[in-house]
Amino acid sequence: MKLLMAASEAAPYIKTGGLGDVTGALLKEFGKADIEAFLMLPLYRRIREKFPLSDTGHRMRIPVGSRRHEGRIFSHGDSLFFLECEEFFDRSELYGTPAGDYPDNPARFAFFARAVPEACAELGLRPDVIHCNDWQTALVPLYLKTLYDTPFFRETATVMTVHNLGYQGVFDGVLFSLTGLGPEWFTPEGIEFYGKINLLKAGLISADIITTVSETYAEEVMSAEFGFGLDGVLRKRAGDLYGVVNGIDTDEWDPATDPLIPARYDRRDLSGKGVCRKELVGECTLDRGEKNAPLVAMVGRLSAQKGIDIFLEAAEEVVSMGARIVVLGRGDEHFQERLIDLADRQKGSVFVKIGYDEAFAHRVYAGSDILLMPSLYEPCGLSQLIAMRYGTVPVARRTGGLADTIMDYAPLRDTGTGFLFRDYRAECLRECLNRAFCAYTAGPKWKKIRRAAMSRDSSWKASSMKYLDLYRIALGRKRREAE
Ligand code: ADP
Ligand code: GLC
Repeated sequence: MKLLMAASEAAPYIKTGGLGDVTGALLKEFGKADIEAFLMLPLYRRIREKFPLSDTGHRMRIPVGSRRHEGRIFSHGDSLFFLECEEFFDRSELYGTPAGDYPDNPARFAFFARAVPEACAELGLRPDVIHCNDWQTALVPLYLKTLYDTPFFRETATVMTVHNLGYQGVFDGVLFSLTGLGPEWFTPEGIEFYGKINLLKAGLISADIITTVSETYAEEVMSAEFGFGLDGVLRKRAGDLYGVVNGIDTDEWDPATDPLIPARYDRRDLSGKGVCRKELVGECTLDRGEKNAPLVAMVGRLSAQKGIDIFLEAAEEVVSMGARIVVLGRGDEHFQERLIDLADRQKGSVFVKIGYDEAFAHRVYAGSDILLMPSLYEPCGLSQLIAMRYGTVPVARRTGGLADTIMDYAPLRDTGTGFLFRDYRAECLRECLNRAFCAYTAGPKWKKIRRAAMSRDSSWKASSMKYLDLYRIALGRKRREAE
């Protein structure tokens, strides 16, 4: 099996969120299992600054609309390729600045999607499967069925993974010509979407297999509530749609070896977690509150998806119940402002850090008692997996991957790895936190929940094998088609 991962992010090279974690960790897992796996990423400025890359000497001329752009192929080792076009990727950010998305994103990622098959041909790399991720690479499967329906790719199958249906790459219809596709594709059966173009749709209508990042989300996306207008397209492909739950890189996220936290600990000896907690309380200048005040954390993008509004609605009462709160995140301006405002009003009880800070994230996961994820929707979510591994008990909304990875605490059976609530309401969030606080103050019960959370296997072992199975299914179909 020769696999090519095509993505706009992959750790450790470049990451802005969960997508980068997933593609990077999955590749690493394939490496451990001796699977021949390649990666293609755009060559962003930040990668060039951090990693010593070699120029392969290969050049490409990629048409985007009426212009042709020169692309160069750089590599790191034998299997990692970086597709360069200075005009598009030599910038400070990946997708845009706080002022907004880069206006030429459709051209940038049309370039990249077309550069993927071009680079394969140029390098003589004929993958069995190209695994595409999110809208930035979603044109690739359609290109293989149209502009690159060539003998070279006759037996190359495609798998399209949707990490978040809330981001589809929707742009003005006049930009359709950037894709180089024939006019028959600017139709409702093609990539037309209410007069606009929808790049994710290209992948959904043409990939041999579609996946999303948890089983529950795979069901949810076929409903109007979660489908963001593409539920009909997805329902048509229900037979080819699979959910494969994300894992985390368990080497990077391991409280027993983590160099970024003040003290190390494991399931058997949690004394180090106490040290981490104490340091975090000090670092965040929180008053210690009552003896039993639980420390509740939130880490993530500050977007409507993450349930920030119901959190803000509930926060003050949660503080009055005795809890302390730490928030790390960046995102929508108005959420940032409201959170800073909350921290100002609740000095000593609420600490807010606006920004992206990986090292601080490690300290927060290690030093907190509870991780709150009241998401409106959540394709999978990695923060809850990380938290559980660090003995920080998740309190979350029962949706998508949160429902699949957290087992709600059942008091009569005394089992569970966290606490779940169903309705998207501040009141339900508060009630759920209250349930968690009750367990927290009943010491031995909490220890059991924490130990159960830490025992959850969130490695990529099982899920990477599932992807392999799906690659084989996709390839089998493609071969039968080619016969
Ligand atoms: P999403 O991909 O929707 O943003 P996930 O839970 O899947 O959410 O993944 C988010 C990843 O990004 C996690 O590894 C989380 O720790 C990290 N992360 C999110 N926001 C921040 C931040 N402000 N600083 C550091 N790490 C962050
Ligand atoms: C998206 C989702 C998140 C998921 C991540 C990685 O950003 O919002 O739930 O964990 O992708 O698949």
